[in-house]
Amino acid sequence: MLQQKNSIYEKAAEIIINSGECTVLTGAGISAESGIPTFRSKGGLWKDYDPTVYASLSTFQKDPSKYWSVRGDFIWNYGEYSPNEAHYSLARLEETGVVSSIITQNIDGLHKKAGSKNVFEIHGSLREIFCQDCNREYIAPEVPKNDIPKCSCGGVLKPNTVLFGEPLPERALFNAQKESEQCGSMIVIGTSATVYPAAQLPLIVARNGGKIIEINIERSLASADIFIEEKAGTALPALEKEIGKLLNNNS
Ligand code: OAD
Repeated sequence: MLQQKNSIYEKAAEIIINSGECTVLTGAGISAESGIPTFRSKGGLWKDYDPTVYASLSTFQKDPSKYWSVRGDFIWNYGEYSPNEAHYSLARLEETGVVSSIITQNIDGLHKKAGSKNVFEIHGSLREIFCQDCNREYIAPEVPKNDIPKCSCGGVLKPNTVLFGEPLPERALFNAQKESEQCGSMIVIGTSATVYPAAQLPLIVARNGGKIIEINIERSLASADIFIEEKAGTALPALEKEIGKLLNNNS
């Protein structure tokens, strides 16, 4: 079994090194080992809270307390979550020029915290919070701890994240689509690939002849060329090691 897994890492490393630019698409699963619940897998946030109620723009406009009741704790404790081995591996792979960019659906800011630079946060970030009236910016965790946190002007505060019914940040989405069109491989990590347009990005890669490597504890992409069935925090350092061996052999 161990031998089989090693050979999967070798194959994945060869694809990444030999296919041109490599981009990465991440979802909630990469942050699971940092203690942040996913949405749809076991113990996921949307198992207890209906996202069409708790994370929709129309509900936020009617009653922002619902959104704050599920997201407030993360924001008020923003500094307490740390990147895990998977985030750090990706940051090192970018540093060595292997990974060109990270497209993330995550709003936890952990890729940037781990040192990754070229990160496209297509669902926004919980770090920045804006007053809906005067547009004043607050940075998590410096936000009043109330049912409905408000600005000093009295306006309701809303994190800079995408709610259902809201458009995605234009520039991040544009860059994500561009990276997907031009890369030779994409590593897809810890996403159920059920939310669009993120779920479409691997399809763009495949349509342009790029290869897909999926890392997940359960397969979610039928079209992946390689599926590594493993936790992200274990798989990424193992993959990084294989890539390092190949780079050393080639130099
Ligand atoms: P999901 O909760 O839908 O999927 C999480 C994925 O991570 C599943 O496929 C799990 O099998 C996998 N997983 C769990 N633990 C893992 C681990 N340790 N290592 C690797 N994989 C693991 O989360 P997303 O696909 O990110 O959007 O959800 C997409 C979007 O839906 C989110 O960005 C959010 C949500 O509604 C918005 O809020 C706009």
